Amino acid sequence: MQKYIIEPIKELNGEIEVDGAKNGILPIMAATLLSTEPCKIHRVPSLKDVSVMVEIIRHIGAKVDRDSSNMTVNVPEIKANEAPYEYVSQMRSSFDVMGPLLARTGLARVPLPGGCAIGERPIDLHLKGFKALGATVEFGHGFVEARADKLIGTSIYLDFPSVGATKNIMMAATLAEGVTLIENAAKEPEIVDLAIFLNKMGAKISGSGTQTIRITGVKELKGCEHSTLPDRIEAGTFLIMGAMHKSNLLVKNVVPSHLKPVIAKLIECGIEIIEEDEGLRVKSSGKINPVDITTLPYPGFPTDLQAPFMSLLCLAEGNSTIVETVFENRFSHVSELNRMGAKIKIDGHSARITGVEKLQGADVKATDLRAGAALVLAALVAEDATTIHEIHHIDRGYNDLETKLKKLGIHISRI
Ligand code: UD1
Repeated sequence: MQKYIIEPIKELNGEIEVDGAKNGILPIMAATLLSTEPCKIHRVPSLKDVSVMVEIIRHIGAKVDRDSSNMTVNVPEIKANEAPYEYVSQMRSSFDVMGPLLARTGLARVPLPGGCAIGERPIDLHLKGFKALGATVEFGHGFVEARADKLIGTSIYLDFPSVGATKNIMMAATLAEGVTLIENAAKEPEIVDLAIFLNKMGAKISGSGTQTIRITGVKELKGCEHSTLPDRIEAGTFLIMGAMHKSNLLVKNVVPSHLKPVIAKLIECGIEIIEEDEGLRVKSSGKINPVDITTLPYPGFPTDLQAPFMSLLCLAEGNSTIVETVFENRFSHVSELNRMGAKIKIDGHSARITGVEKLQGADVKATDLRAGAALVLAALVAEDATTIHEIHHIDRGYNDLETKLKKLGIHISRI
């Protein structure tokens, strides 16, 4: 088990660059299974989750070449219609391979997925979509198995705009016969990027980014070339980090429109956010106004930045409230922040944060990916050094975090 030891820093000045999006690249890698031709993908972040997805698609039959941040994937034939448990159990988005496998071969067997322990995270909406497209779905021995002689386009209403279900159904429907409509679809930028990628492969998708996505099935998909979109959650994490210090920090490679609710809340906190050609500049005096936040599906405030933002609000001058509506169990960072001297009380899906003047260094544990990020941010403003245990969670989603932080003069070591 590796851990971080992080020393606090007084001021944050300089620049920090955002990598390709974790939640963007994973479904794109799964989508390469839809074609026999090679796909070239650029700006691929070097993350644990990406390595896990490489192993999964290799097992299925993909030839994967990686050269720094470029990746070529070629899947001339499907050798196994199954994703291996040892990888799927590590990462929920492994389930993304289900739709492409089903569409290409008519059979997909995937173990029930793992990933961050942030709630029940069922897959009923994915399966509802596959069934509506004509597949039979069965469970057994820990696997979900979907079979179909052919998939037929239809209209599917999602009870909740699930990101995962929207991606999986959209990918499956690309090769279905006729037109599929996904109603109440997720609108996240990563869904739009996946649709762009699939359309480059020859799919006919319109309406991504709105609540109705229309997919007209085609006979086959071809290879293509694509660059992963910037990671809005990594960008948001760095903006929040800047806000917590006396700072003048340029966050590079950002799409500001993807971060509207985060920018709005930072401004409400009294932080200056300036749009520049190269990215977003965050300027803070270190004084933070309290704010109330409710997490929502995109374009609402992202649940993935709830934990990092809570670290910021720990230092606000007054009381803030955060309501988590997307996942039912996403407050595991609270007990760790309280160990560092924060004053946070949970009441069901709400957290009441009473700002304190200082946080203290302590031994804390990253319980999931974004909880881990929240602790890194808290450690940087604590009075003394903090040790963060179980940082394998952080490695799942932040590319080369140590190098990026060290460039800002931060003392961070991995033990
Ligand atoms: C994706 C993101 C994750 C982000 C989340 C919400 C990836 C790899 N992960 O996760 O970082 O926090 O979106 O923005 O892109 N649900 C159901 N039934 C289903 C599917 C989901 O009830 O079949 C529920 C979940 O339990 C959860 C909510 O819907 O409460 C959101 O889940 P979903 O949007 O599917 O998130 P993920 O795709 O898992």
